[in-house]
Amino acid sequence: MDRINVDCCTEETERLLSHLVAVASCKFEDATNMPPNLCRDLGIAHLEHENIWKRDWVCAGLAAEIPNAGDYLTYSVADEAIYCIRDEKNSVRTYSNVCRHRMMQLLEGRGNSQRITCPYHAWTYDLKGKLVVAGQMQQSKVFEKAKICLPEFRTEIWHGFIYVTLNKDAQSVKELLTPLEDQVARYDMANYIPVVNQDHTWNTNWKLLTENFMEGYHLPVAHKETVGAWVGLNDTVFPDEVYESFTYQTFTKAKGATYGTAHADNTTLKEHWRYTTVMPTVFPSHMYVCAPDHMWYLTLRPRGVGQVDVRFGVSLAPELYHSFENREQSVKELIEFFDKVNEEDRQVVEGIFKGSKSEYATPGPLSWLERSIHDFEQYLANRLSK
Ligand code: FES
Ligand SMILES: [Fe+2]
Repeated sequence: MDRINVDCCTEETERLLSHLVAVASCKFEDATNMPPNLCRDLGIAHLEHENIWKRDWVCAGLAAEIPNAGDYLTYSVADEAIYCIRDEKNSVRTYSNVCRHRMMQLLEGRGNSQRITCPYHAWTYDLKGKLVVAGQMQQSKVFEKAKICLPEFRTEIWHGFIYVTLNKDAQSVKELLTPLEDQVARYDMANYIPVVNQDHTWNTNWKLLTENFMEGYHLPVAHKETVGAWVGLNDTVFPDEVYESFTYQTFTKAKGATYGTAHADNTTLKEHWRYTTVMPTVFPSHMYVCAPDHMWYLTLRPRGVGQVDVRFGVSLAPELYHSFENREQSVKELIEFFDKVNEEDRQVVEGIFKGSKSEYATPGPLSWLERSIHDFEQYLANRLSK
């Protein structure tokens, strides 16, 4: 992949890239953390914007979060405001969230609308992004209603996730994630029922949160009060191969775990799969825990080098969702539980970002449980240094 803009690269950026390439290309047993300033350098952030965010697929949310025609959610890709909407034919489509009149943002948050009406002068678009109403335009000689349409972006649904890219030439998600297919298919997570989605901003670099979510090493320590208590870390299994666009691992949950094992009414998962979780990261920024009873995902957008916008969601296996006697109370408890887990993660990833500015910060060696971090380093080196 060609680097788009090398002018932004200072000597420090070049030094960081060389260091990244060296770390990424060494054997895993020799691998270390990435250089600390990689998460602070503006030149690196610029390269990420051009070579990652404008080119790769990002996850905007779950198709099940917008189940009906006209349901939409807003997001952004490489700072481009977008919205994903379900059309009359049940397809999820993605459009620029910028009015073709005078650039007003059309939609905010989530909702349902059969027509998208701009809050500024009421130009109105249908579910295919086509302009259908624009008042008081009869005297304009350059207004051609039939030609005005919101730009549409490539969208693919993969096991219930909505992936979007600005890149017309990107390889399809289906092809990129083929080797991941067998790992997640058994859970049927596209049919899990969403119970929560939230947006937060944390004070850290996006890469530090990606790394944190990918590794189980911190679970018994940083999450000892929550998920850490149930994880069988020594059962962790990584793929034999290193893949270009994703990584994953599987691990087990203790049989008495509150969340993470198959409900008694689940008759499709057998033997150890009843308590096994798969944890993929689709690079650059989509991480999830797919367990027999729930799916928990994060998708990230950088906000400069020192902040990250975090979209967080949880969905539940139908047999668990339908088994609750008091669903409202059970979902409330689940949300409180995951809020606690997120808070535990926020503390550490904000702490690492603070640590990264120390002149004494140094890239430490990786545990065998941090194999995914080395996979991520290879992805970053591949995208940023060619
Ligand atoms: S900016 Fe949208 S109608 Fe004017
Ligand atoms: Fe964590």
